[in-house]
Amino acid sequence: MCGIVGYIGQQDVKDILLNGLEKLEYRGYDSAGIAVVNEAGVHIFKDKGRIAHLRTVVDETVLSTVGIGHTRWATHGAPNQRNSHPHQSSTGRFTIVHNGVIENELELRQEFLPNYNFISDTDTEVIAALIEHFVLEKEDVELAIRHVMSLLHGSYALGVIDANNPEVLYAAKNKSPMLIGLGEGFNMIGSDAMAMLQCTNQFVEIEDEEFIKLTREGVTIYNLLGVTVKRDPFTAELDASDIEKGTYPHYMLKEIDEQPYVIRRIVEQYFEDGDIKIDQEIVKAVKEADRLYIIAAGTSMHAGFVGKQMFEQLAGIPTEVHISSEFVYNTPVISKKPLFIFISQSGETADSRAVLVKIKQLGYPSLTITNVPGSTLSREADHTLLLYAGPEIAVASTKAYTAQVAVQAVLAAKVAGKTDLDLSRELAIVANVMESITDHKEQYEAIAKDYLTQRNCFYIGRHVDYYVALEAALKLKEISYIQTEGFAAGELKHGTIALIEKGTPVIAIVSQESVNLNTRSNVKEVKARGANTVIISLRSLSSETDQIVIDDVHPLLTPLVTVVPTQLISYYAALQRGFDIDKPRNLAKSVTVE
Ligand code: F6R
Repeated sequence: MCGIVGYIGQQDVKDILLNGLEKLEYRGYDSAGIAVVNEAGVHIFKDKGRIAHLRTVVDETVLSTVGIGHTRWATHGAPNQRNSHPHQSSTGRFTIVHNGVIENELELRQEFLPNYNFISDTDTEVIAALIEHFVLEKEDVELAIRHVMSLLHGSYALGVIDANNPEVLYAAKNKSPMLIGLGEGFNMIGSDAMAMLQCTNQFVEIEDEEFIKLTREGVTIYNLLGVTVKRDPFTAELDASDIEKGTYPHYMLKEIDEQPYVIRRIVEQYFEDGDIKIDQEIVKAVKEADRLYIIAAGTSMHAGFVGKQMFEQLAGIPTEVHISSEFVYNTPVISKKPLFIFISQSGETADSRAVLVKIKQLGYPSLTITNVPGSTLSREADHTLLLYAGPEIAVASTKAYTAQVAVQAVLAAKVAGKTDLDLSRELAIVANVMESITDHKEQYEAIAKDYLTQRNCFYIGRHVDYYVALEAALKLKEISYIQTEGFAAGELKHGTIALIEKGTPVIAIVSQESVNLNTRSNVKEVKARGANTVIISLRSLSSETDQIVIDDVHPLLTPLVTVVPTQLISYYAALQRGFDIDKPRNLAKSVTVE
């Protein structure tokens, strides 16, 4: 994980780096640092804690127009000042920031640096030390960096400053995301476009194992052999205001409220004259498959479960959903004509990418459904479908989940061909119902306050409501730290009901007629054992005592609306506990380590 940013230009660099890092905090936020260079040398400011704290550590009087910065999610070594980036080689000549994991750092230490005095516990310091090692062996700096790249096993996005040549900023990439930002009289690097939008919307993609030299006037990309690579820039269709909180106290609340617009945008993007517009190649790939394998993690996997229902019920294609981190090492028997569908908000999740690498080696076709155009999973899969959800900044995913569900519905409907389902109309209804939910936030605030009074909680449901229960439980636990389980309602009595005691909150979701009465019986069972129960139901299935009643939507699309109250309940539970809603502890938005 971690985020990096670098700048070489005309303006004082400190704020450019700090503002960029703030946009990257979603990638990790346990420590942060910047290094800037001027005629007096390289100055490093770094510490444990967030960017807001780093601002207090930076010496305002140091002026510079070249620098690199880093926000960290610790992988090697505890989050403390010593392990914070930037790191330097022993003479202080090379200063680097790194996002990624170097798998062979021990071997490299033993082979090339047996007597080196390391200061930190990080794998990054090995890279700085190795660059210096090869320069001391008389390689020029560019060759030395490419030499080090050729030795590294693992992932890296690197920014490098050479104190002897502050007119150049170096960068390199393999498997970790990084983009170049272009400007008049300046150039930049960043883990994503958002970190650079304050300065530019012109970007150039970098591919794996490429090395980049940035000056104020230009950027040159090289491959590992030192051969120049030409690549056209692109304009990011992002608006800096998309990544501002506006009047919202938290990104999560803003993103929950954006969901009706996201659904409408998906309709705009994917429908034309009543027909669904999806690349024929993608439709063909799905139709030709005898089985779909959805690969994803966390919330995206929960969206995949809902997608399974759609691909099977609408399009009649058997579909399996797999946890990406399990699939690589515990691969199931694969059908004769599979299609692998990767669902990922960020498009960078390392666990999912490991599966993509594996199935590509096996020669299987792939489709990525992602929010981030140009992300690793999007570039490396055969096909991509975009979510059009806009940047999701809060670590806990909300609008990306509903967008993932909606885009899978669109794909399944396209593959199914003519059916009775008028999807664009049904999605328009969904958007309106979402709006009516987000218009009544006080209801969810009250539920969080009145019911979530204990250390634990259960969400239960049957059928597709079970999948929403899984997502609801994840959302509640990750931001409010209430231990929550999502359960198939009928399964409780096979063991877990033993945990129900006086006051245990149990929230049931009831959106499917076929299981309405069964789920309600399960609610009675836990109530009889002291549980404090809440029922979230669709109006046509509701009973007078249900606490949350949602207007009806098409039965296949109910997860799009039943999930919204659960997102709001989580939000208010975390707010009432005073936790950092957008940046829950121990987490990062984009999980780029396996
Ligand atoms: C939870 C959450 C995570 C992500 C998971 C996969 O709110 O956001 O569980 O869904 O880390 O990330 P992506 O979708 O970027 O592959």
